[in-house]
Amino acid sequence: MTRKSPAELRSARWFGPADLRSFGHRSRAMQMGYAPEEWQGRPVIAILNTWSDLQPCHSHFKTRVEDVKRGILMAGGFPVELPALSVSESFVKPTTMLYRNMLAMETEELLRSHPVDGAVLMGGCDKTTPGLLLGATSMDIPAIYVPAGPMLRGNFGGKTLGSGSDAWKYWDELRAGTITQEDWLGVEAGIARSPGTCMTMGTASTMTAIAEAVGWVLPGGSSIPAPDAGHIRMCSESGRRAVEMVWEDLRPSRFQTRAAFLNAIVVAMAMGCSTNAIIHLIAMARRAGQEIGLDDFEAASRRVPVIGNVRPSGTAYLMEDFFYAGGIRALMDRIKEHLDLSCVTVNGRTLGENIAGARCFNDDVIRTVDNPIYGEGSLAVLKGNLAPDGCVIKPAAMDQRFLKHRGPAVVFDDYPSMKKAVEDESWDITPDHVMVLRNAGPLGGPGMPEWGMLPMPRALLKQGHRDMLRISDARMSGTSYGACVLHVAPESFVGGPLALLRDGDIVSLDVGARRIDIEVSAEELAARRAAWTPPERRYERGYGYMFSRHIQQANLGCDFDFLRSDFGAPVAEPAI
Ligand code: FES
Ligand code: MG
Repeated sequence: MTRKSPAELRSARWFGPADLRSFGHRSRAMQMGYAPEEWQGRPVIAILNTWSDLQPCHSHFKTRVEDVKRGILMAGGFPVELPALSVSESFVKPTTMLYRNMLAMETEELLRSHPVDGAVLMGGCDKTTPGLLLGATSMDIPAIYVPAGPMLRGNFGGKTLGSGSDAWKYWDELRAGTITQEDWLGVEAGIARSPGTCMTMGTASTMTAIAEAVGWVLPGGSSIPAPDAGHIRMCSESGRRAVEMVWEDLRPSRFQTRAAFLNAIVVAMAMGCSTNAIIHLIAMARRAGQEIGLDDFEAASRRVPVIGNVRPSGTAYLMEDFFYAGGIRALMDRIKEHLDLSCVTVNGRTLGENIAGARCFNDDVIRTVDNPIYGEGSLAVLKGNLAPDGCVIKPAAMDQRFLKHRGPAVVFDDYPSMKKAVEDESWDITPDHVMVLRNAGPLGGPGMPEWGMLPMPRALLKQGHRDMLRISDARMSGTSYGACVLHVAPESFVGGPLALLRDGDIVSLDVGARRIDIEVSAEELAARRAAWTPPERRYERGYGYMFSRHIQQANLGCDFDFLRSDFGAPVAEPAI
């Protein structure tokens, strides 16, 4: 392998020349107390840190960044920390999905505009993973991903609590009157008790596993719990490795092949992944210039069983258990016949080399393929006259009696009116009804909020029902569950068939046949379409204005159209 020379470093354009501009760069570096020996001829490694005081999942990044720096220094690099948008799933409203692409743009432009040769990307909370990776993909300089790691198991009264899932579960119990207010407060205090990302198989754990499967993370790195000392060691090793990647010129374009993305889909399926994975992975692949679509998920879903027994698809376990059982290396080892083991990863070795010798220490947490949690994949892609461009459902995490279902629609145009109805104990609704929420897609939400697990009507909860068929153009949290049809495309806001649905229309779902239809004639739908008027746009200025003019539909990954890899000519390196 040819190695870069110091004169070929990108940062040498800033620091090298004997001219007035470089004089400025050097004197300003010295203003910060750095002697020329500390940066001259050394790879400058940007650490994109998504820490913030309102990002509980990344609270340990404040000190972990020092561990990354230690690794970079050890390997002869020069670390520079660049703070980036932290997009906290817990606090950012109306939805973090509105800002994934903003972080992606920030990442790309931070790397482009500064004198950096490589990057360590620190993220983990849901959208931060795809945001950072999308931007680094477009910039295509050597980069490695450091996942925040899952938090420890939650605890209340000696019982394990899972992020998200148990919040919804105990909330329904509180509403049904089976637990007390005091219990509820105990759950509130115990459900998140350490730094780190949600420890169920939500979007965070799904996306960091995907990042590792694509090749962005050191072997096993995505499974290490945030507070574990192993996580600290992974941080410094990632720093060391980033420096070497610069000399080797190991860029994302060298490992983000179509085969690597197909590997990620297989891993996502075996983990029982969050439905959000579909949107982000499609966006990542398209940025990398690889054609990956809903059909690839559907194909993998038919082949790959769910073997990661982690809630909500699994029954009892959480990410901490998954780590102790051997983590993602053990899982990948079990499904290796579905993987392309020749794919290269950030450590310069192949996926096959990285999982060699992996051991599983608990066959209930990481099942064998002969004893899966769910025989067929965890996600199903549905099409039909209600969703011509597709939609998804998570059969692994729903009441199986809704897999084939027909029922009358009850349609809501906005979240508040739906919320009012579900809280009404005297609402005349049956478990056979199909609850529909529209105007919750990429443009309608706006930002496609995680409203897709429409709350169960109180009237049905009181009767002991815990699931019903629900449909929307929204997303749902990876920690959610239920018979929820999501990501209906095209969305209603742009006139997708969901916009034409009326109360009482019969909706039919057949997951086995991968169909979702409304029993309304084409003539009647055409007549309704002719009478349909598009809703008013949401934003007249600012970021939302740009978002609403350029966001693509869910089946295309919700990227901005102008960020596609084939949009326009490549951006030139900045003039200095
Ligand atoms: Fe950050 Fe779930 S809220 S990962
Ligand atoms: Mg989430």
